[in-house]
Amino acid sequence: MCGIVGYNGKNSVTDLLLDSLELLEYRGYDSAGLATMNANTGKVKLRKCAGRVKDLRKICAKDKKISTCGIGHTRWATHGGVSDLNAHPHRVGDVLLVHNGIVENYEELKDHFMLHKDLKSQTDTEVVAAVLNRFYQGDPHEAIRKTVKYLKGTFALVIMFTDQPDVIYAIRNVSPIVAAYNDNGTMLASDVVALGATADKYMVVPEYVIMELHKDEIKLFDLNDKPVEADMIDIDWDTTRGGKGKYPFYMEKEIMEQPDALRATMQSRVVNGKIDLSADGVPDEILKDCERVCVVACGTAMHAGLVAKALVQSKLGMHMNVEYASEFMYSDPVIDEKTLVLAISQSGETIDTLEALKYARKKGAKSVAVINVKGSSIARESDYVMYTVAGPEIAVASTKAYTTQLMALFLLVGRMAKVRGIFDDATEKAYLDSLTKAPDKMQEVLDQKHDIHKIAREMLDAKDAFMIGRGLDYSILLEGALKLKEISYIHTEAYASGELKHGTIALITENTPVVATVTQSKLKEKELSNIREVQSRGASVVVFVKEDFDLADAEYADVFELPAMEDEFMVFPASAALQLLAYYVSMDKGLDVDKPRNLAKVVTVE
Ligand code: F6R
Repeated sequence: MCGIVGYNGKNSVTDLLLDSLELLEYRGYDSAGLATMNANTGKVKLRKCAGRVKDLRKICAKDKKISTCGIGHTRWATHGGVSDLNAHPHRVGDVLLVHNGIVENYEELKDHFMLHKDLKSQTDTEVVAAVLNRFYQGDPHEAIRKTVKYLKGTFALVIMFTDQPDVIYAIRNVSPIVAAYNDNGTMLASDVVALGATADKYMVVPEYVIMELHKDEIKLFDLNDKPVEADMIDIDWDTTRGGKGKYPFYMEKEIMEQPDALRATMQSRVVNGKIDLSADGVPDEILKDCERVCVVACGTAMHAGLVAKALVQSKLGMHMNVEYASEFMYSDPVIDEKTLVLAISQSGETIDTLEALKYARKKGAKSVAVINVKGSSIARESDYVMYTVAGPEIAVASTKAYTTQLMALFLLVGRMAKVRGIFDDATEKAYLDSLTKAPDKMQEVLDQKHDIHKIAREMLDAKDAFMIGRGLDYSILLEGALKLKEISYIHTEAYASGELKHGTIALITENTPVVATVTQSKLKEKELSNIREVQSRGASVVVFVKEDFDLADAEYADVFELPAMEDEFMVFPASAALQLLAYYVSMDKGLDVDKPRNLAKVVTVE
């Protein structure tokens, strides 16, 4: 969480940093700040405020002086409330610091170094700035080296020393820093998205390596001051796709991009009409030899895992666990060298997923990560990676990352079925034929967005809502409910509809909004009975139903027909419909759809 940037070069830095911070705002938007330094005089200008980057921009507009070196930050508050004082950068003595991560032992450090009188904020970051300042006697490397020895937790630290006016220093543990250069200067950021058009290649700064950002070069040193090289990775995303285009919010744009993103995720993995994961380097042996499959993931990514579980169990007849990554290692999971762990993550930086993956690998498991952001920490930690080709996802609520994760997982399970002798050529072909239709079926839903908008208008005043279904419908609805609650603030629960009568049905009263999906042949009759049960208690039921299905004679608040696919593929059109529903409710309530309260896109704290 938190976004950090730094630039050193020929260009004026303030607008450049502000533009980059705006691109990083998805990582946190409680406060924003930047510090610039005049390369000749060393004069520092520090501006920060609670609020958004646009508020910081107003403050900076008054400043006409040009600097060409600076650091910036957009914050997701962890230690210390949302206030001007707690905003980064923090300055203590000669040190200016921005930080992403959590320094767990900051209270101990305060006592150990007797820092209390040096501190103005409640943040862990200011404590680190104070420790750095304590150790700083003109040698930045020495101060950094000595400081990081004391730090427990995760950190990406970006530092300016006021008597070193033309260098930015950085070091990290777990929390990401990427960097790039071009003829105009050097730049670092938490995410390649913020490097914008600066370069066509970037590096992921290795952990515990000191980076120096000079005007014309980037230098890396290990903790013994030996120079280090880092691989350069192609930026093959079109970073200009970061704009909203004709849409009012990134979320709508990203929902609309899904058919293309699904095709792109599929493209390189279907060769001569067969699933082929060789471009990902995923060897058939690990798919063939594993005896257990286990997903570790969080939130939406975990919901993608639940869909994969249904597929693995139905197609492969194999048991599969899907675990909240944050619970995984505390639940004494049964993991060994015969376990295949799938770590699913859009950002590739979610600390819970990263730690769960490390734990599983220590126990001997083989791993495949399904990741959107290239070179991210989880991608680097995993044995093998399947990248989703969603492109940058900026809206905090995940949409295209989720459905491309599904696509990658469908392909992975298809390949497993083949190498395990469950699919012959004909069944593989039929499976791929259906999968190939998923983008078009999704498009059919997107083309009817105005009908879903009408349904959404009926939900604007709801305080609570339920989403009910069974089997795969239940997994689809868990994601649908997360979408609705996180961006509309309507308390929404997804319920396995057969479970309702064991307690929760007590909450259904006159006009309680209930959304049901009915997409699975084997469950349809039972799902319809469960719908009747809530209708009998007065619920107002909207049904998203596979178009082939007959809903029998009953009154519904609304019915939306989903284009028909084989049952297991219905997740694609159904997800698009539920994403649009959440989107329109949030938009019509006048909320900031892309930046829901209290959330951040990249969750790098446990
Ligand atoms: C919800 C959402 C989150 C993420 C979760 C994991 O819309 O986006 O639930 O899915 O925080 O993030 P990643 O996929 O980056 O590991």
